[in-house]
Amino acid sequence: MSGSIVVTGAAGALGRSVVEQLVARGAAERVVAVTRRPAALSELAAKGVRVRAGDFDDPASLEAAFAGVSRALVISTDALDKPGHRIAQHESAFKALAALGAEHIVYTSIVNPTDSRIAVSKDHAASEAALARTGVPFTALRNNVYSEMLLHNAKRALASGKLVDARGEGKVAYVSREDVAAVAAAVLLTPPAGNQRLDVSGPDSLSGPDIARHMAEVGGCPVEHESIPLEALIEGMVQHGLPRPLAEIFASFDAGFAAGEMAAVSDTVERLTGKKPETLADFLRRTKAAWAS
Ligand SMILES: NC(=O)c1ccc[n+]([C@@H]2O[C@H](COP(=O)([O-])OP(=O)(O)OC[C@H]3O[C@@H](n4cnc5c(N)ncnc54)[C@H](OP(=O)(O)O)[C@@H]3O)[C@@H](O)[C@H]2O)c1
Repeated sequence: MSGSIVVTGAAGALGRSVVEQLVARGAAERVVAVTRRPAALSELAAKGVRVRAGDFDDPASLEAAFAGVSRALVISTDALDKPGHRIAQHESAFKALAALGAEHIVYTSIVNPTDSRIAVSKDHAASEAALARTGVPFTALRNNVYSEMLLHNAKRALASGKLVDARGEGKVAYVSREDVAAVAAAVLLTPPAGNQRLDVSGPDSLSGPDIARHMAEVGGCPVEHESIPLEALIEGMVQHGLPRPLAEIFASFDAGFAAGEMAAVSDTVERLTGKKPETLADFLRRTKAAWAS
């Protein structure tokens, strides 16, 4: 096996976890960690990982950042400032990797990216299409919602006794970020042949009341689930100071949840990593200090 494994967004939470998992599996000398903030990754450099500067908003930076690439993970960015920004960012990365001869590109997408009520999904659908246009074999990791996305809600739920959202009867198969990172590392180490679109979920499809019950059991206080209309959820966020366009983007997740878009459980984590995905109850226990203290 030759050539480098490039991981973009390496200073983000997911990127860091993927690099750490590759290091743990003995691949440190093959990994190139690309980030806008190289100084933040000195401890990974000390473990033998090459750290390079690279910014999708500066396509000229990517040729040096990706030099020697064999396989790459392109982590979707968090740029929600203007429509189309993320698509252009991801396309710059895909084109640079293709031009440098990448043999397999992994991209962090979302479950059900096409025809989704979830606003950010459009970027993922367009990014997957841009990736396919490069002609480089790829794996789209269609990730479910990170369990970590519940931490803020868990803290509030414990304080108020209520888990408030607009998900109705909808279920979600939350997956821990660590499990997503483990899947990404496994694909980078052993890329599948051809193109793959893999749903990545946790082990259970959970309703609002299920989630409230887990929070109550782990947190040691009663928590009830209350689903409110979508408009009321948006108004609440605006009253807490969130700009309306952002509030609408966040609330669109609940619209997708209510429609069952994130309900399906997949076997990807266990199939690719050999380990069962973490349950939400175990995740809440592991992170209890962050939300129940
Ligand atoms: N499935 C879910 O529930 C869920 C939830 C939240 C987010 N996401 C998506 O998954 C991604 C990774 O999640 P995370 O938790 O690791 O997020 P995070 O810690 O907020 O990291 C944001 C990521 O975006 C990268 N980035 C931002 N601007 C960039 C640019 N101009 N060029 C290259 N990279 C850029 C950052 O890279 P550097 O800082 O290293 O340059 C970093 O990896 C997010 O960016 C978002 O697209 C998914």
